[in-house]
Parts: sequence; structure tokens; C-alpha cells
Amino acid sequence: MPPAAARLAGLGTTIFTEMTALAVRTGAINLGQGFPDTDGPSAVIEAAVNALRGGENQYAPLPGVPALREAIFAHQRDWYGLEPEDVLVTFGATEAIASAVMGLCDPGDEVIVFEPSYDSYTACVAFAGATPRFVTMRPPDFALDPDAMRAAIEGGRGRVKAVLVNTPHNPTGRVFTRTELETIADACIEHDLICITDEVYEHLVFDGEHIPPATLPGMAERSLTISSVGKSFSVTGWKIGWCSGPAALVAATRTVKQFLTFAGGTPLQHAAAAALRLPREEVDTLRDDLRAKRDQLCDGLAAAGLRPLVPAGTYFINADVGTDATQWCATLPERCGIVAIPTSVFYDDKDAAPTLVRFAFCKRPEVIAEAAGRLAGLSA
Ligand SMILES: Cc1ncc(COP(=O)(O)O)c(C=O)c1O
Repeated sequence: MPPAAARLAGLGTTIFTEMTALAVRTGAINLGQGFPDTDGPSAVIEAAVNALRGGENQYAPLPGVPALREAIFAHQRDWYGLEPEDVLVTFGATEAIASAVMGLCDPGDEVIVFEPSYDSYTACVAFAGATPRFVTMRPPDFALDPDAMRAAIEGGRGRVKAVLVNTPHNPTGRVFTRTELETIADACIEHDLICITDEVYEHLVFDGEHIPPATLPGMAERSLTISSVGKSFSVTGWKIGWCSGPAALVAATRTVKQFLTFAGGTPLQHAAAAALRLPREEVDTLRDDLRAKRDQLCDGLAAAGLRPLVPAGTYFINADVGTDATQWCATLPERCGIVAIPTSVFYDDKDAAPTLVRFAFCKRPEVIAEAAGRLAGLSA
């Protein structure tokens, strides 16, 4: 591998690609990568079909098709009372995160990353020539340690430019509390930091409530709020995301995005607008269905003698397998036909959670039942 690619590969993890390929090759149940095995709401799928057949097949405008931009403004207002100055449609939340970090951070800047973290963050920070400063959240509760966060910011001696916040949080399944977010907000205001938020699981909260950091006092003017249609509406393959916030932050993100992909997914942008305009009851039903799956897999893991840490949101449960999780996951497909991910891949500090395994529960009940049975067989 050329050195440049090797350097980047070393920053993140290739385990999802490897594990998904392994699951396909061996016929194992894939509880590794977070994607549902059912389609999103039929009205949303129909909207995509109609857009394809209706001639919406050419480049979208760089900021996104007007129907989706309007739906995002309405969504932020109706769900959270937010009135962002501007909105930008992106190729999934992933492109919004990459473009934001590259557009807002200079070489030599530092970015606070709460770990464990979604694996693209570190690579995106590297794209910008910036450096991550990790704040470690530890099991079993993964609570934010305010002292560690302050120490990380102060340790940057003025170089920290931004904080990357993910709530609801992958891989822990945590939903940041108001108190935690206020602690982050106070630090952002005190040190004049930009808050880049990844809220892709915003509608998948089972216990508690999702609080966008931009809704806290003094934060709307310094927050770039990122989300996407994939997770909340079970269409992860569409990669339609967006960011919203102050005009200057969105403009910086747009400047990078135009040279990455310019614009994409025109028919799916129209369908994403339909998703965001679904009645709240339908959004609640999607969440409630997923909560039942969470409970089913938690019960199955507990019955198999693994100790699940019950998540408040997202697609993921972490369970303590009581032994080296990397080894445990490496042999799991052959031992019982299941693929899962050691949680340590999401940490820079590889000793922070050595016995935890992340399982995705966004699967049909019969698949979860089969997986639970196979896991139970391990301890039999
Ligand atoms: C925290 C988090 N952010 C972003 C993404 C990717 O979002 P998208 O598919 O919209 O790029 C994921 C996908 O796993 C995720 O877990």
C-alpha cells in the first residue's frame, strides 16, 4: 500500500469491511456493521421511485434540492425550535463531517474527540492536517469526565479549534445528558470553540431525550449540526446527509464539499425530504420497533451469559464478554456463525474497554432470535 494510504488506514479501522466480507463468505449473521435488514417506510421508498421516474436525475444544486433544504429547515424548527441561518445537503453525514473539519480547521489546529468514536473522525481530522485530542469515556456508563475534557482543551494551549460531539453516541449507545452537554457548551463558550455535532441517531432514542447541542444557550452561533436520513429512516445506503447552522460555518463546509462530490443523489434527496416530513407517529413507530429489538437482543445476550450494557439509543449494544474481545470476535464466526466488533477498535486507548463487544440490533426479530440462540449455544 502506498505510504499515504497506509498512514490513513492506520488512523481508522478496516474491520467493518473485513467483518462484513467474512459474514458474506461464511454465511454468518452480521451483527457487526450497523445497517438494518429491512427497508425504510414505504412512503419514503415510493418518493424515491417517483423522483427517479419523474425526471429528477441530473445534478442537484450544490446546497441541495430546494424541497430537501426546506424540509431540513422545517425539521430543525418543528422538532427543536432551531432557526439555522443556512443548510447544506451532503453525501451522508460522513461527507458533512469531513467537509466541516477540513473547512474549519487549519494544519496545526486540534480537535477534541470523545472516544470511543465513529471511525471517520480521526481520519477527517488528519485530512485537515489537524490533530485529535481524545477525551476517553469508559465503561460501564461511558459518562463524560468534565476534568478530562478541560484538561484536554487546556493542554492544547490555544490550539484546540473545535469539539466533535456525537449524540446519540456510536458505539456506546449513550445519549448525552443535558448536564454533560452544558459542560461541553460552557467549555466551548469559554474557549471560543466550534461545536461540530453528529446527530445521525437523533430519532432513535429509547430512554431519555435527544438534545441538540445547538439548542443550549450561546451554542446556536457556534454549532454546526450534522445529521442524515440513513439511520433514523432505515436507508443507510442512500447517503443523504446535511448540516445546518450559522451561515459562516455552513459556507466553510460547502466550500470543501463542492470539490469533493459537488452534489449527488438527486432523486434520493427528494425522498429524504419525504422522510423528514413523515408524521411524528411514524417516526415514533420506527423508534419503538427498534426499542423492541434492543430489548430482545439484550435479553438474548444476558441469557447467553454475556453482560449487556443497555443502550439508551442508536443501533448498538455493548456487552462484556469477560475475556479479550478482539480474540473472542476473531473466532466468533467459526464458533457460532456470528460477526460482531470488538469495541476497542473505536478507541485510541486500546486498554479502555478490552472485554467489550459491540453488537448491532437493527435486525429482524427472527434474525435476533437465531443469533441469540447461537450465542446461548456458546456457553452450553
Ligand atoms: C456516529 C455516526 N456518524 C455518521 C455515520 C455515517 O452516516 P452516513 O451514512 O449518513 O454518512 C455513522 C454510521 O455508522 C455513525 O455511526
